[in-house]
Amino acid sequence: MERSLTMELVRVTEGAAQQSARWLGRGKKDEADDAATTAMREVFDTVPMRGTVVIGEGEMDEAPMLYIGEKLGTGWGPNVDVAVDPVEGTEIVAAGGWNALAVLAVADQGNLLHAPDMYMEKIAVGPEAVGVVDINAPVIENLKAVAKAKNKPIEDVVVTILNRERHAEIIKQIREAGARIKLIEAGDVAGAMNTAFEETGVDILLGSGGAPEGVLAAVALKCLGGELQGKLLPQSDEEIRRCKEMGVEVNQVLYMDDLVKGDDAIFAATGITDGELLKGVQFRGGYATTHSVVMRAKSGTVRFIEGRHSLAKKPNLVIK
Ligand code: FBP
Repeated sequence: MERSLTMELVRVTEGAAQQSARWLGRGKKDEADDAATTAMREVFDTVPMRGTVVIGEGEMDEAPMLYIGEKLGTGWGPNVDVAVDPVEGTEIVAAGGWNALAVLAVADQGNLLHAPDMYMEKIAVGPEAVGVVDINAPVIENLKAVAKAKNKPIEDVVVTILNRERHAEIIKQIREAGARIKLIEAGDVAGAMNTAFEETGVDILLGSGGAPEGVLAAVALKCLGGELQGKLLPQSDEEIRRCKEMGVEVNQVLYMDDLVKGDDAIFAATGITDGELLKGVQFRGGYATTHSVVMRAKSGTVRFIEGRHSLAKKPNLVIK
């Protein structure tokens, strides 16, 4: 992949974030998602690549745009797999909460796990704790290992976990171990990615969330030198069948190279709402501002990009 693709791709998440942010706190998650999806699709048309959606808005018969198998890009350039989540945290946008992102990942064709829309158990850490955690180990062991790797007492370790009933037992074990917790209402891509940025104050992500989000987070952590391990959690016979079809056993641990092969991968995210890492979109007199991160696994380059987008030249950004 050409390195210039990196800068092209951040335009896609910037476009999605700006449109979705128009729905901030308006209680309409589907509208926030549709706006971002349409914008993402439009900008992709200008990106020099031959992309195929492997993680997207759904199957061809259930999503009008960015569906699995859809071709994206100008039709020339590298053959790539594309994973998108136009709004990672639709309910966050609807409620005007924290950490909603427009997200995408691109990798050489065949290199992204085609994760179906089901749950995945995850453990994610930043670079300092790579190689010391194990998704099959007890919570306390993983917390001790992270504390040791980061040279601090377990009481100083902060775990991010989705605030869900299904996590009651893990939360209890974290508390018994003496570590601290940041409960999030949604958005575990940001939760996983934040473990690699010291300024977010988060050391480890635990618990289950969407499998597609697991692949997106794995690409981000590959660029950042972190680690994510996942296990698909099928909830029905149909989901078990889908795992088999992919050649993944129930309980099989998916490591970084199972989630994203090799290192020719790019990850881009733009904040829709404010978060620990990225500011959300702001509409100011005549222009909108965006805050994005874009990174490339091959070079390990991480760029934070602030955008200022003229509303006069983009009348479709002005709310109707
Ligand atoms: P959406 O973008 O589809 O709203 O998903 C947000 C999210 O919180 C993800 O970050 C997470 O992986 C998943 O939903 C968790 O699912 P659930 O809400 O069912 O626990």
